[in-house]
Amino acid sequence: MAKVLRFSDDFLWGTATASFQIEGGIDERGWCIWDDFCRWPGKVFQGDTGDVADDHYGRYREDVALMADLGMQAYRFSISWPRVLKSGVGEVNETGLVFYDRLVDELLEKGITPYVTLYHWDLPWELHRVGGWAARDVAYRFADYVQVVANQLGDRVTNWITHNEPWVVAFLGYWFGVHAPGWQDGGLALQAAHHVLLSHGLATPILRASNPEARVGITLNLSPVYPASDSEADRIAARRQDGFANRWFLDPVYKGSYPQDMWELAGPIAPRIMDGDMEIISRPLDFLGINYYTRSLVQANDQDPMGATNLHPEGEYTAMDWEVYPQGLTDLLVRVEQDYHPGDIYITENGCAYEDTLTPEGRVHDVKRTAYLQSHFAAAHDAISQGVPLKGYFVWSLMDNFEWAYGYSRRFGIVYVDFDTLQRYPKDSALFCKQVAQSNSVEA
Ligand code: FCB
Repeated sequence: MAKVLRFSDDFLWGTATASFQIEGGIDERGWCIWDDFCRWPGKVFQGDTGDVADDHYGRYREDVALMADLGMQAYRFSISWPRVLKSGVGEVNETGLVFYDRLVDELLEKGITPYVTLYHWDLPWELHRVGGWAARDVAYRFADYVQVVANQLGDRVTNWITHNEPWVVAFLGYWFGVHAPGWQDGGLALQAAHHVLLSHGLATPILRASNPEARVGITLNLSPVYPASDSEADRIAARRQDGFANRWFLDPVYKGSYPQDMWELAGPIAPRIMDGDMEIISRPLDFLGINYYTRSLVQANDQDPMGATNLHPEGEYTAMDWEVYPQGLTDLLVRVEQDYHPGDIYITENGCAYEDTLTPEGRVHDVKRTAYLQSHFAAAHDAISQGVPLKGYFVWSLMDNFEWAYGYSRRFGIVYVDFDTLQRYPKDSALFCKQVAQSNSVEA
C-alpha cells in the first residue's frame, strides 16, 4: 500500500506566476527591457511578446476564482515596476497601482494569502537606458519603487519577496545575453548581481516598516551540484560550480561576504563594493524562497574557464531538457539548512514543462507533470522529516504563460491556456494539486 505523507497543519500550498509572463495589458504600463528584447530578431522564440500574454490584467478575477476552486491557499505573483511607475521613477501610474490593489483584495476575499515579489525581471526601459542593474543608482530607484508599493499594499500584504532569482537577472541577462537586456560582459554581470543584492537589502527595512506583521525574504534559484566521480578534480569542479550557482548569492545574503574562492577566481572582474554594502545585503530576513527545477552533475574540464562541464546523465527529462531529479530537492534543502540556517524556507517555484494536448472535451491528461509534482512534494516532505523548516510550496505555474526566451512554446501551467482564445482549462495536474492541498498530504 502507498505510504501517505502528511504535512503540518500550517503548511501552505499555492501556485506562482510573474507579471510579464501573464499580465499583458501593455498599453497601461511603461515599456520594460523584455518588451524590447522580444523585438530583437532571434532572441525570443518566434518573436513572441508579452503584449497580451494570458491577459491576466483583464481576467484576474477569473484567475483568482480558479485558484480558489483548486483549493489554493496562497498565491505568489509579481508586481510590474513599469506598471506602477511607467518610467521607473517619478509619477505614479494610479491605474497600475489600483490593479494590484484589486488583485490583493480579490485574493483576500477568497482566503488566498498573497506572496508578493517586487522584481521578476521587468526592468523599466528608462532605467535600462541609464545602465540597468549595472548602474548603482538603479538599486536606490528600486528602493523608491518598493516604498510606493509598500505604502499602497502594506496594510494587507505581509509576505514580501524582494527579488526573483538574482542569478538569472545578472548572469543570463548581462553575461550570457540570453535574457533581457542581452548583454554579454562578465564584469558588468557581477556588478549587476551586486546591485541587485544591494537593492534587496535597501528594500528590506522599507517592507518591514510597512506593517508590524510584515515578513521579508528573497527568492534564489538554487541547484545542488554533484561531482561525476569521487576524484579530487571532479570534486573541485563541483565546488566551483556550486560557488557560481549557489554560494555567490547565498553567502552575501546570509554571511555578509562573497565566497573567497570565487572572489579570487573572479580576479579583475570582481564587483566594486562600497563601504557598508555587505551589511545592507545581509540584513536579517524572515524567510528564504527557493526555486528548484533540477540538479547539476559536473566533471572537471581544464578547457573550460570554470573548470567544469555539465553532464547530461541518462534519465527522465522535461521539455526544457532539464533532468527530473527529485532527490536533488531533498539534498538541496538539507544542505541550505545546514550551511545557512535561513529560518523559514518556502519552495517559491517548482514545476515542469511538457507538451500538452487538449482533448475535445477540454481535458489535459498531463501524467508526467503530475508524476513530477508528486515526486517533488514527497522529496520536500523527506527534507521536512530531516528537520528542514519548509513552510510552503508554490507550484510553477498557475497557468501556461510566456516562458521568456522560449516564448509560448513551453507550458509550465497546471492550467492549460489556449493562446488563441485565452480560455483556461485545468489540467489533471491541477486536480492533483487540489487534492494534495485539501488533504494536506501526498502519497509516496
Ligand atoms: C524560473 C523563473 C520563472 C519561470 C521558471 C520556469 O527561472 O523564475 O519565471 O520562467 O523558471
